[in-house]
Amino acid sequence: MDQYDDCWLRYDSPADGDRLDAYRRRCVHAYVSEGAPELAAVRDELRRAVPSLLGRDPHLWQHPPRTVDGFLAVGTPDEMAMVAESVPVDEVERFADGGYLLRSVEWEGMDCLVVTAASDRGLVYGTFHLLRLLSTGEPVDDLDVREEPAYANRVIDQWDTPFHRSVERGYGGESIFDWERLPDLRPRYEDYARLLASVGVNGIVLNNVNTEKPPRASANPAFDAFEGWQLLEPRRLEALTGLAALFRRYGIETYLSVNFAAPMLLGDCDTADPLDDEVRAWWERKAEEVYDLIPDFGGFLVKADSEGQPGPYDYGRDHAEGANAIAAALAPHGGRVFWRAFVYGSHDDRSVQAYETFDPLDGAFADNVTVQVKNGPIDFQPREPVSTLFGSMPKTDLALELQVTGEYTGQGVHAAYHHPMWTEVFEFDTHADGAGTPVKSLFGGDGEGVVGVGSVGEDRSWTGTHLAQSNLYAFGRAAWDPDRSTGTVTDEWVRQTFGTDGEVVDTVAGILRDSWAACVDYTTGGLGLMHMMHNGEELLENHYEPSPGEWPGYHGMTDDGVGVDRSAYAAQYPDPVADRYASVDDCPEELLLFFHHLPWEHELADGTTVVQRLYDNCFAGVEEAKRLRERWNSLDGRVDDRRHRHVAERFDEQVASAERWRDSLTATFYDYSGVADERGRVPAGDGAGSA
Ligand code: GCU
Repeated sequence: MDQYDDCWLRYDSPADGDRLDAYRRRCVHAYVSEGAPELAAVRDELRRAVPSLLGRDPHLWQHPPRTVDGFLAVGTPDEMAMVAESVPVDEVERFADGGYLLRSVEWEGMDCLVVTAASDRGLVYGTFHLLRLLSTGEPVDDLDVREEPAYANRVIDQWDTPFHRSVERGYGGESIFDWERLPDLRPRYEDYARLLASVGVNGIVLNNVNTEKPPRASANPAFDAFEGWQLLEPRRLEALTGLAALFRRYGIETYLSVNFAAPMLLGDCDTADPLDDEVRAWWERKAEEVYDLIPDFGGFLVKADSEGQPGPYDYGRDHAEGANAIAAALAPHGGRVFWRAFVYGSHDDRSVQAYETFDPLDGAFADNVTVQVKNGPIDFQPREPVSTLFGSMPKTDLALELQVTGEYTGQGVHAAYHHPMWTEVFEFDTHADGAGTPVKSLFGGDGEGVVGVGSVGEDRSWTGTHLAQSNLYAFGRAAWDPDRSTGTVTDEWVRQTFGTDGEVVDTVAGILRDSWAACVDYTTGGLGLMHMMHNGEELLENHYEPSPGEWPGYHGMTDDGVGVDRSAYAAQYPDPVADRYASVDDCPEELLLFFHHLPWEHELADGTTVVQRLYDNCFAGVEEAKRLRERWNSLDGRVDDRRHRHVAERFDEQVASAERWRDSLTATFYDYSGVADERGRVPAGDGAGSA
C-alpha cells in the first residue's frame, strides 16, 4: 500500500532466533487448496506477508510437500485429506459460518500448522488470525485455536455518496470508490477488503443511506446531478459486478442502500406504495436483475421517513409493510433488507420516537428483514443510554448500529477510541428476560448482527488520524467477539500497527484506553448532557465545534436547572432499569442529566453540586487531553517520524478544540446558572447561553 498506510497489516517482523525458526519451519511452505475465490485471497496474502514477516519467499504447494521440515496447510477437511487426518472433522463442520480452527500438528514426521474451517470464508479469517500471531510475535508451536463469530452479520455501512465522492460524516478524505471509473478496479479496493476481512467483516453497503440529494455541493456540478438511487439503473449495476467479485474473494457480500421511492424514481410507477401490485412487481424485477449480475448479493439497506428520505408514511403504511414489500422481492434470492429504525415519530422528544414506532411492530416483519438500531436513542453522541428497542422486539431480527467514524467524538482529528463505549453498550443489562440479559445477547440469530458506519477515505491514513484506524479494527473485533476485552483488542492493534516495543505498546494502548472518557468530559460535562455541537452547513465545522445555544431541547438548560425530564423514555425500559433511571438518586451519575432536569445546585452523592461537577469535568477533560498529547509526544523517535508528526499535530488541534468546548460549555453553564465556579476558573459573562 505505497500511496497509503498499511494500517494493521504492516507485517513487520518482531520475531528472531528460535521463534523465527519455528515460524519458518511451519509457514514458509504452504499447501493451500484451490478452487474457491477466497483461496486465491489466502494465497495472495501469504505472498504479501511471508517475505516481510519471515524474510523468505513462500513456497505455495498444490499437494503436501514431503521434502521439508514442516508446512502450513490451509483448506477445508473436505478438500484436503491431510487436514481431515489432522483435526476433529465433526467439530469443524459444525462451526458457524466463518468459524475456523488453527492447530499445530505433527504430520508424517513434519511440524505443521493447519488452518481449517467449514467454509472458504473461514479459511480467510483463519489465515489472517495466523498472520496476526506472527505479526505480534506469539508462539505457534502448540496452537489449538477455535474461533466462531458471535454474530452472523458483521457489516460496514459506507456513507459514501457516489460520483460526488464525498463521504457523509467521513473524515479521512473523499470516497475511496471512484464510481465514475467502475468497472475498473483500484488496488485500494483490494486493500480495503483485506483490512475488513482481517477483522472478520462479512458485508459492505457501498453507498450512503441518504440516497437523495448529495449533502454537500461538490467541485463538479455534473456529479451534483447524480443521486444515490441511480445506482439501481442497469448500467450502474453492471459497473458494480467487478467490485462485488473483489469483495467476494474476501468473504464480503455486497449490499446497496436503496431509496424507498425507487419504483417511481427509476421505474414508471406513479406510487411507491408498498401494498401496490405494480410497485411490488417492480421490486421483484429489480431484485432479479441484481441477482443475475451479483449472485451472492447481500441485500438492501433502507433509511426511510427521516431527514427527508421517503418512506411508507408517505402512503399511510407502517414500517413493517414498507420493509416487507422490498423483502418479498429479495426472499427468493436469499437477500435481506436492513431497515433502519432511525425514523421520525410524533413525540416531541426524539429519544422516545424509535420505540414508539417499532415496538408495536414486533412480529410483523418478514423473516428476511433486520431492523437496524443505533446504539442509543439520539444519534451516536459521545455517551447515550442504550436504545430501548434492544430487548423489546424478541420476534424481530435486530442489528446494532455503531458509528465507527467519530461524528461527535472529534471527527478523525481527536484521539477518541470507541471500543470502551461499545463495550458499555454490549454489556448493558436490559433485564429484558430477567437479570442477565445484556445487549450483546439480543442479536445472535442468523439474520442479526452488528453494523458499523464506516470511516475510511482517500487520505494516506485512511481515517484522518492514524489513531482512528483503531476504531475500524476494534469494530471488526467487537462484532466478531464482544467479550474480548478493550485491553486485548487494543494491545493487538497497537502491536500490529506500531510494533512490539513495550513502551510504545503501553503508551499508545493507554492513550486509547483513556481517550473516550476525556472526550465525554470536555464535550458534555460528563453528566449525560449531549448534542451541544454546531450544526452549520459548512463542511469543516459541522457537528465539530461547540454551540450549546443551538439545540436547547436536547440539554434542557434554563435559569433554574439543567437536563431533560425523559421519564417517558425511561418508562420504555423494563423494570428495574426503568425505575433506576427514573429515580434521581439511583440514576447513574454519567446519565443523570439525560434523564432528569435538576436545579443547578442539586447535590450529587458526594455533596458536589451539579454545576460544579459540570465545571470540574469539563476542566478535567481538557487536562486529560493534554496528558494524552504528552504521552504521545514522549514517543518521539520511537514511532516513525511521519506518523508521529501527523498524530502530534492532530493532538495540538485536539487540545485546542477541547479548550474551545470547555470554554463554551462552562460559560454557558455559568450564564444560565449564575453560579460561580468554586475554583475560579470560569470567567463571568462571556458565555453563549440564555443570559
Ligand atoms: C446523523 C448524521 C447524518 C446521518 C444520520 C443517519 O443525523 O448527522 O449525517 O444521515 O445520522 O443516521 O442517517
